[in-house]
Amino acid sequence: MNKKNSLIKRDQQHVWHPYSAPQAAPLFGVHRAHGVRLQLTDGRELIDGMSSWWSAIHGYRNPHIEKAVREQLERMPHVMFGGLTHEPAVSLCERLAKISPDGLERVFLSDSGSVAVEVAIKMAFQYWIARGEPKRNRLLTIRGGYHGDTFGTMAVCDPVNGMHEFFQDILTQHFFAPRPESRFGEQCTDQQFSAFTSALEAAQESLAAVILEPIVQGAGGMWFYSADFLRRVHALCREKNILLIFDEVATGFGRTGKMFAAQHAGIAPDILCVGKSLTGGTLTLAATLCTNEVTSTIASVEPGALMHGPTFMGNPLACAAAHASLDLLARATWQDEVAHIESALQAGLEPCKSIPGVKEVRVLGAIGVVELERPVDMNQVQPAFVDEGVWIRPFGRLVYTMPPFITKREDVDQICTAIKNVLRKHHPNS
Ligand SMILES: Cc1ncc(COP(=O)(O)O)c(C=O)c1O
Repeated sequence: MNKKNSLIKRDQQHVWHPYSAPQAAPLFGVHRAHGVRLQLTDGRELIDGMSSWWSAIHGYRNPHIEKAVREQLERMPHVMFGGLTHEPAVSLCERLAKISPDGLERVFLSDSGSVAVEVAIKMAFQYWIARGEPKRNRLLTIRGGYHGDTFGTMAVCDPVNGMHEFFQDILTQHFFAPRPESRFGEQCTDQQFSAFTSALEAAQESLAAVILEPIVQGAGGMWFYSADFLRRVHALCREKNILLIFDEVATGFGRTGKMFAAQHAGIAPDILCVGKSLTGGTLTLAATLCTNEVTSTIASVEPGALMHGPTFMGNPLACAAAHASLDLLARATWQDEVAHIESALQAGLEPCKSIPGVKEVRVLGAIGVVELERPVDMNQVQPAFVDEGVWIRPFGRLVYTMPPFITKREDVDQICTAIKNVLRKHHPNS
């Protein structure tokens, strides 16, 4: 039995993959990753069109990040964060407070995007308990969102298309407004905004916060919406005295062309979640930032503490990787890189519009999306992408790419050609 088959076979006996049946197929062994390339165990090399689910923005094995992690490993790989602190965490929190939208001064570190969102929700609930309004314990969000896989976060994912429909009966019931109709780059009219206003006003008394992925809704539908809509949400939350949480786990650190997607609208939330590309995809780390007002209100009443504390909170290796990733972003070439990827994706995906079964093509920053009329057949499509020499992992009706920022033009072109070829051959209407 060759190496590849034995790995897959062993995997299928004991490993459970995300959103997969116990014997996940098709499945590919990956042996190494370097730059924008993944090397499979059978020797084939693929251009990575996924950045490992939005995270590997600088590609793989970036020497600056690796050096930082190696040096930290020699000092201290991990230490508990209760009662102890360390330079990598303190300076990372200082740095996050500095680069994030205005007013976000306090940082709670955690280990995944879902937990960062859980912490944000907990902050909002504790804030209202501290203000003597414990009945404000519901959230308002928009349809089409995705915020994670834990029970708190599943309750604010899209109730139908959010992958968690299965659990609806046991989730906390929150409030949902329609997905914004106004697209990115468009104004949002009073009429278009009225559904959100009505949803908020109907639920107002019980609302702790509004939670949204700003500008780009990721895994819930890869939808890009109006910055004006976001500004209106912000203004309404201010007017009605409701907290605003932005989940930038997917959009944070440059993916949409701005450091944070909130900056397209020129606004700052009360609470912000980041994760994924925080470490350049090297190690798992997330953070929840909040304003001094949120912090001091929570601290003003018993128990005076935020009631959360993951074992691996502030992991020094992950903090070192995050520092190094932020160093690379501070060089600012990423903005040009993202702009080049955006124009390459626009040109390269345009021909997909004429493929039967394609509903829409949309591009924003380093994100390219081909939305289909019907879901793809992963058994056909996944191996077909590998045969084309690219790693693309569609879901449902969405074939999309968000390559590392360092991806060269010819590699972006190859990703786009692969998407065209695979959809022409295997489009779901054929
Ligand atoms: C917007 C958003 N929030 C939260 C999460 C959850 O992050 P994690 O998978 O690291 O728990 C994701 C993951 O895709 C996401 O896209």
